[in-house]
Amino acid sequence: MDQIVIRGGHTLKGRIPISGAKNSALTLLPCALLTDEPLTLRNLPRLADVDGFGHLLNQFGISTTIEGSNPGDFGRVMTARANKITSTVAPYDIVRKMRASILVLGPMLARAGEATVSLPGGCAIGNRPIDLHLKALEALGAEIELAAGYVKAVAPNKGRLPGGDYTFPVVSVGATENALMAAVLASGTSVLRNAAREPEIVDLCNCLVAMGAKIDGIGSETLTIEGVADLHGATYRVMSDRIEAGSYACAAIITGGELDLVGANIDEMEATVAALRETGASVEMVGDAMRVSANGRPKAITLSTAPYPGFATDMQAQFMAMLALGDGASMLTETIFENRYMHVPELARMGANIEVRGRTAVVRGVDKLVGAEVMATDLRASMSLILAGLAAEGESKVNRVYHLDRGYERLEEKLEAVGADIERVSDG
Ligand code: UD1
Repeated sequence: MDQIVIRGGHTLKGRIPISGAKNSALTLLPCALLTDEPLTLRNLPRLADVDGFGHLLNQFGISTTIEGSNPGDFGRVMTARANKITSTVAPYDIVRKMRASILVLGPMLARAGEATVSLPGGCAIGNRPIDLHLKALEALGAEIELAAGYVKAVAPNKGRLPGGDYTFPVVSVGATENALMAAVLASGTSVLRNAAREPEIVDLCNCLVAMGAKIDGIGSETLTIEGVADLHGATYRVMSDRIEAGSYACAAIITGGELDLVGANIDEMEATVAALRETGASVEMVGDAMRVSANGRPKAITLSTAPYPGFATDMQAQFMAMLALGDGASMLTETIFENRYMHVPELARMGANIEVRGRTAVVRGVDKLVGAEVMATDLRASMSLILAGLAAEGESKVNRVYHLDRGYERLEEKLEAVGADIERVSDG
């Protein structure tokens, strides 16, 4: 299995191109199910999960073609055409490897009148239920049945969903996405209250509108969707990845460097940018890039994760690595997932001083981290270990690199180009 080997202590300086957003790509791809015309997505990141989603679409009889897959290209273009659907089942084997597969439930149900999707099962970052996805679809008129590890959703007479009102008891990104994609083809109007407002949801709404959907309140917590009989094809560009940009911002600071993050959208990263500035770093737009410059050791800060526009749970682990070298004690509280501190023992093996008390982690800044062999446990946790490795004295080896390949396009290439000593080696 591959490892990433980093010899730390190099100051990073230069330009890093920011890829298309993984979390957006994985909710835009299932939109292909909603029309018999081609949906072309541009700026798709080259990631294992994007390829996996393409394969899942193929299982349904949907054709997919990819352009721009030359080794030198960033941002691929995929065209998916669902002019016929030969299967409405998302099998366990695919869903267990890629949780985002659950996002086919809503659009498949809307288009085919029925959908069967394997339950995603446990996940490394805690218990991740899908009850709200199912309740929202029921509110839109679906009948839901759970059997043998699968969810089966059926619309009345396997026709169109009538649509309906649903108020989410807690903000859920995935459930909002599923409900939106189901509501766009309903025969009536639907209202989703306490909907997630993440930029990726706005991206999804904008793509659906480009396909002919009628959605009011985009970017707000109340979405009103007037169902239409058909959607048409479209060409849509995936937004830039705000989590990738935030991760490289932490890389600039932890190495005492300066990075220009090309294509990052500062307006979609307000909470991250505010937290970066609070550590003393400077963040400003310079031309087409967000420039992040370290200003000495990061100052200790207090952070709590929250749904957008709050501080993203997907940035918690990377900030923790950076604050492990901070000046003073930082407090990080994780409110979205109950078990998202698996990087803590691994960071401790590199010399970090972190104490977890329930949902809060107290991070006491140390003067240095020391390279070690560590194990990645999930996508963002893996990035926190890479960041620690970039700043640590000596050599670090990060195992289970497949997590990183799910979410960071050409990580080693991007970091090497700005001065990191990093390589991927195969231990076989
Ligand atoms: C969440 C994050 C998202 C992040 C992604 C991957 C939030 C609001 N969402 O999205 O930013 O990119 O993880 O790390 O920060 N829940 C239920 N029942 C459900 C669905 C969710 O109880 O049916 C709960 C979850 O356990 C969690 C909260 O709602 O506590 C938010 O989950 P949700 O937004 O749905 O998770 P993701 O879509 O995976």
